[in-house]
Amino acid sequence: MAHRVLHLSDTHVSRTGPDEDGVDGLAALNGLLYDVRRVPELDLIVVSGDIADDGSEEGCTAVRRAVGEFAAERGIPHVYCTGNHDRREGFTAALGSGHFGPDGLSIGRRADVAGAIAAVSEIAGLRVITLDSLIPGETHGVLGDDQLDWLAAELETPAPAGSIVVLHHPPISVDAIPYLESVVLQEPEKLAGVVAGTDVQAVLCGHLHHQLSGRLGDKPVWVTPGVVTRVDLTAPSALVRGVLGAGATIIDLGGPFAPMFHTLHARSPQAGTEVYVYNPLTGADAAENF
Ligand SMILES: [Fe+2]
Repeated sequence: MAHRVLHLSDTHVSRTGPDEDGVDGLAALNGLLYDVRRVPELDLIVVSGDIADDGSEEGCTAVRRAVGEFAAERGIPHVYCTGNHDRREGFTAALGSGHFGPDGLSIGRRADVAGAIAAVSEIAGLRVITLDSLIPGETHGVLGDDQLDWLAAELETPAPAGSIVVLHHPPISVDAIPYLESVVLQEPEKLAGVVAGTDVQAVLCGHLHHQLSGRLGDKPVWVTPGVVTRVDLTAPSALVRGVLGAGATIIDLGGPFAPMFHTLHARSPQAGTEVYVYNPLTGADAAENF
């Protein structure tokens, strides 16, 4: 049983439109959706957090409308989780459990976990689980024990086509880029322990705005590039450079070589234009020194 997923993340749309760096995430999202309009046989769209740059209901609603329209045209579901920029009130008001059928109606079963918007749905045999790693006011993420216990209970019974787990903060980092460890999911070994030996096919994340694959125990982890901006490893290791150029991933599950991750980038003449360079440990703008 094969599934093809369009994985988006970090749209960063605000109540007034642009993000805190002045970038129009909704325009980036619409351009990307236009460029992927001919990608065949999509079964599902996943958006792994930082939906709203300012945590607003309006930002989440704008993204849900754009993605929902694309999904409705194809008759496929669309699923969202929270990111560090989101606020649970705004997310819930616009997106509920975060799981929508092609008709825009909720298909998610919300976890009974206080202070977290975790949910699950089953899409043509594939179990889709969204987790909530948001800590209000913080950049890094964490999964509470209640949420991990709920996840473990959900995974006790295998799904016909296995499961995917979607959360904003990657449970992996890169040793050569020291600041990454402070902004990703803390205590990743707890999540590793829960998913080990289960039917989870892949753990799908965002947050870093750059594409990155790794392994959490026996499970593949994929970090999709950002929609609003992309970050890569070409800046000196103490700095982060964000550039324009919306990215996304096509993920193929269930085939003989699965999971497979194919990244693509929107065809924008502005792609590669620098948006910011800063030192993530001090917050200092480093554009003039770079
Ligand atoms: Fe982000």
